[in-house]
Amino acid sequence: MTSSGTPSAAGRFPAGRRAFPHRDLVGIAQLERHEILYLLEEAEQWVSLNRQSAKHTDNLAGLTIINAFFENSTRTLLSFEIAGKRLGADVVNMHAAQSSVKKGETLIDTAMTLNAMHADAIVIRHGSSGAVELIASKVDCPVLNAGDGQHEHPTQALLDALALRHALRERGQNADDFTGLTVTICGDILHSRVARSNVLCLQALGASVRLCAPPALMPQGIDAMGVEVFHDFDAALSGTDVAMMLRLQNERMQGQFIPSAREYHHLYGLTAKRLAARAPDALVMHPGPMNRGVEIDSDVADMLDRSIITRQVEMGVAIRMACLDVLTRKARGVAGWADGEWV
Ligand code: CP
Repeated sequence: MTSSGTPSAAGRFPAGRRAFPHRDLVGIAQLERHEILYLLEEAEQWVSLNRQSAKHTDNLAGLTIINAFFENSTRTLLSFEIAGKRLGADVVNMHAAQSSVKKGETLIDTAMTLNAMHADAIVIRHGSSGAVELIASKVDCPVLNAGDGQHEHPTQALLDALALRHALRERGQNADDFTGLTVTICGDILHSRVARSNVLCLQALGASVRLCAPPALMPQGIDAMGVEVFHDFDAALSGTDVAMMLRLQNERMQGQFIPSAREYHHLYGLTAKRLAARAPDALVMHPGPMNRGVEIDSDVADMLDRSIITRQVEMGVAIRMACLDVLTRKARGVAGWADGEWV
């Protein structure tokens, strides 16, 4: 979006396509490439706003956004809350641990309760894959997926793409899309909704994706997604442009998936030595929360010239502002693209 309020060329919809046609954001899988590019372009105005001292707009004034989190979160919950407030909405957080879920209320009854309060958008994080889609089918307002089980975490993938774009541009590289870029995602792929959303998003933008994990933490048949599968981290890292590290999701593991954290670090941890030997120019990413000394060493996570981990957090607010703004436009009667025209 330009300062005049019309979308920039990079964010335009192809002629004949409807304005952003989705009421909900359940997953990257539902988005076409031009829709991903549109959300990234929309977020740029919020990146600029967030870097000013006065960060407030009234785009969503009068709207009520409910953040319903059934799993713990720092980055996603806070950035959705900040995003809604910077857009002028009234934002309410529902923490499942202090809610009537603890008294046995079902997910559907909880959804109907939020709906009866006339929420204008509901943001959900839930431990079960498919829970967000279920809630979306029961309520009248846009629903945004803040992470559901091992399924998807779409705003994480979008913010990762935005952070990568900014970092590549600062290096003087093309970042309109990621054609020619190789991204290696290493860690607990089996339990990771972040990995799944990132594979879909990165591939839609033209990148080649390598996945690396011990055999026990790699989903069967994942190569059907068009990724290269590795169990040797040194091989996966060789020549990569980006190393995206994921933590071990111990809270989702039943049984022993790795011999020990020490052995995991030896085989799959990102160390400065390993990075220098295999991918001396690669950017380093991590969605957080990090387990320093397990999947990533502190001296790598804190590299000023290579690590874009704090940039990812910064972009999280802008992406969530873009998603809330775009998805509430219909309810607000705000103009958008329709059939290739700005109406
Ligand atoms: N990356 C991410 O989803 O972090 P949180 O669990 O802190 O929200």
